[in-house]
Amino acid sequence: MAILITGGAGFIGSHTAVELLNAGKEIVIVDNLSNSKAEAVRRIAQITGKEPKFYQADLLDRPAMEQIFNENNIEAVVHFAGLKAVGESVYKPLEYYHNNITGTLVLCDVMRSHGCKKIVFSSSATVYGMNNPVPFKEGMPTSATNPYGYTKVMIEQILTDLHTADPEWSVVLLRYFNPIGAHKSGLLGEDPNGIPNNLLPYISQVAIGKLECLSIFGNDYETHDGTGVRDYIHVVDLALGHLKALSYAETHTGVEAVNLGTGVGYSVLDVVHSFEKACGKPINYHIAPRRAGDIAKNYADPAKARELFGWEAQLGLDEMCQDLWNFTVKNPQGL
Ligand code: NAD
Ligand code: UD1
Repeated sequence: MAILITGGAGFIGSHTAVELLNAGKEIVIVDNLSNSKAEAVRRIAQITGKEPKFYQADLLDRPAMEQIFNENNIEAVVHFAGLKAVGESVYKPLEYYHNNITGTLVLCDVMRSHGCKKIVFSSSATVYGMNNPVPFKEGMPTSATNPYGYTKVMIEQILTDLHTADPEWSVVLLRYFNPIGAHKSGLLGEDPNGIPNNLLPYISQVAIGKLECLSIFGNDYETHDGTGVRDYIHVVDLALGHLKALSYAETHTGVEAVNLGTGVGYSVLDVVHSFEKACGKPINYHIAPRRAGDIAKNYADPAKARELFGWEAQLGLDEMCQDLWNFTVKNPQGL
């Protein structure tokens, strides 16, 4: 019996693949490499000493997905595959809806036809929208402000409806906060295309000299130093959360939305200072206007993951920055 990891060559999927292999699980990876490289799969093998089965295929390609299920005994799916750039989604809504939603529909239909009814889905804290007070709790109303966010809200609904229609399904909706960091070995990490949009990849490229200066988007928020506050979580902690979610799905049917965050909020300046410690040099930054769509504070109430899964994040901000810096130094051009 194997676990299928869609998007398993990507940032979070590759770290989860490592942890599943280390836990002795059999895995199959499917990824179209639209935002990743086959090198990530080689590195998963290098770290674990185990060769994962890899299909370079698109979730939209139904015959290819059928073939994967025909050739493997898939018991559960961890579904990471999707496009994730918020800004790009505003300019390419059809591409985002098609890839993320149609891809999920094809996947679930093929799962259903093979009697595989356990899915752990990569949702996002973005589903808490602009109007909920922090800390975000799973029972709060969901909403979105951009096509990327809507794909998460809609896929959560689709998977919930699937369980309503067939209560044998087991659905875990993992709402990630801000995953950062890299594998301790320095072999795996985030490898964004072009100029990064997210804070940590941007800072690391300033530190390594590829970018000149970080723009801090606003210093007049109602936070301890005026800059935006987020719940950064080490990608290895996040990966381990997936193992717990899979164990839960093995023994329970139903639908559960679960936050994967630390419950601690750090400001942009906190992150800059932690990264400066990690890399041993100052980060060049300036204060820029607020970025449209940003909220002041975003952090999780992590209690449900603790209660349901017995999972809690272990690694702090300094370790996240050290591991990212180690990865950056070892892979200045990415993977
Ligand atoms: P990523 O881009 O590194 O990984 C996604 C992988 O999916 C990529 O390797 C890409 O090639 C693949 N993919 C995309 N569309 C595909 C398709 N149609 N068929 C096959 N493969 C396809 O992103 P990530 O950071 O690892 O994120 C994984 C998931 O977690 C995504 O669904 C993302 O929306 C979600 N998420 C990420 C974050 C974050 O900050 N990284 C936060 C919240 C939620
Ligand atoms: C962003 C997305 C969110 C998505 C998440 C993971 C937006 C509005 N939100 O979250 O939907 O789930 O990425 O992909 O795009 N910052 C700077 N300078 C930078 C970059 C960021 O000051 O160059 C600040 C931001 O204003 C924010 C913090 O750093 O306060 C974190 O930003 P980012 O890493 O982009 O993550 P989110 O905005 O939390």
